[in-house]
Amino acid sequence: MKILITGANTGIGFASAEQLVKQGQHVILACRNIQKAQDAQKKLRSLNQGQVDIVSLDLNSLVSTQKTADEIADRYGVLDVLINNAGVFSKTKQRTKDGFEQQFGVNYLGHFLLTQKLLPVLRQAPQARIVHLASIAHWAGSIKPHTFHAKGFYNPVFYYGQSKLANLLFSNALAEQMAASSITNNALHPGGVASDIYRDLPKPVYGVMKLGLVPTSVPAKLICQMAIGDEWANRNAEYVSAHMPNWKSPHAKNQQLARELYAQSMTLVEKFL
Ligand SMILES: NC(=O)c1ccc[n+]([C@@H]2O[C@H](COP(=O)([O-])OP(=O)(O)OC[C@H]3O[C@@H](n4cnc5c(N)ncnc54)[C@H](OP(=O)(O)O)[C@@H]3O)[C@@H](O)[C@H]2O)c1
Repeated sequence: MKILITGANTGIGFASAEQLVKQGQHVILACRNIQKAQDAQKKLRSLNQGQVDIVSLDLNSLVSTQKTADEIADRYGVLDVLINNAGVFSKTKQRTKDGFEQQFGVNYLGHFLLTQKLLPVLRQAPQARIVHLASIAHWAGSIKPHTFHAKGFYNPVFYYGQSKLANLLFSNALAEQMAASSITNNALHPGGVASDIYRDLPKPVYGVMKLGLVPTSVPAKLICQMAIGDEWANRNAEYVSAHMPNWKSPHAKNQQLARELYAQSMTLVEKFL
C-alpha cells in the first residue's frame, strides 16, 4: 500500500513510518526539512523492508502545498492512506506566507488544502483511509474566524487548541460527506508524547512534563492500526486516543460547526484547488 505521512522526518510521524516500513509498506515522507527527511529515509532504508520515498512539503505556504499535491498525484496516481501528522506549537505570534496565524495555517489549513487536492488519488484506491492528528488540546480552542489571521492579543494555547479542534472537525465533516464512498476519515489524540513539539517550552517546564510523556512508538502503533489494520477497515468518523481519555469537547461534537468550518475553509483555499 502507498501511505503518505506529513511531517515524517521526526517525532510521531517518523515512528509511524518506521512501524509501517517494518510491515513492508510503501511510505512517502512529506517533509519541509529535506536534510532531515533524507536522514530519516536513510534510517528507514537500512531496515531493508518496504519502500521509502520523500516529497518536499511546506504547509506554511498554500501555493507550495498545491504544487506538492500536484506532484504527488502525477508521481503516484493512487494513494491508499494519507496521514495528516505535521504540526507546530508556536509560542509567539507568527503568520504563514498567506497571512494566516501559523498554527491554524500549518496544522489545519495547509492539511485541508493538501487533502482536498489528494482526494482524486485516494479515490483511485479500492479502499482508502485518512488519519487526522488532533489532540486533547482541542478543548482549549473554539473556532473564531476573526482570529484566523491572528489580529489582536495572542494566546498560543488558544491558537494551538483552535488548530487541533479544526483537525477534528475536518475529520468529522469529511467522514460525513464521504460516508458512502471508499474513503474513511478518523482522528486521534496521540497522547502526551516526548517529541520536538515541546522545543519552545522552558527547559525546567519540559523536564517536569517529560515524566508523564510516552515514547513516539505508543501513538505510532495506534496510527498504524488506523492506517492499515483490518479492524479499522470500516470505521469512520471516530476520535480515539493512544493513552488518554478520548473525550470530545462540545465544539468537537458539533457537526453543524464542522460543516461551517469546512465551507469557510473551501473559500479560503479556493484559488489553490
Ligand atoms: N507530542 C505530543 O504530545 C502531541 C500531543 C497531541 C498532538 N500532537 C500532534 O501530533 C503531531 C505530530 O507531532 P510531534 O509531537 O511528532 O511533533 P514534532 O516531533 O515536532 O514533529 C512535527 C513534524 O511536523 C513538521 N512540520 C512543522 N511545520 C511544517 C511545515 N510548515 N510543513 C511541513 N511540515 C512541517 C516538522 O518538520 P520539521 O522537522 O521541518 O520542523 C516535523 O516533521 C502534530 O500534529 C501534533 O499537533 C502531538
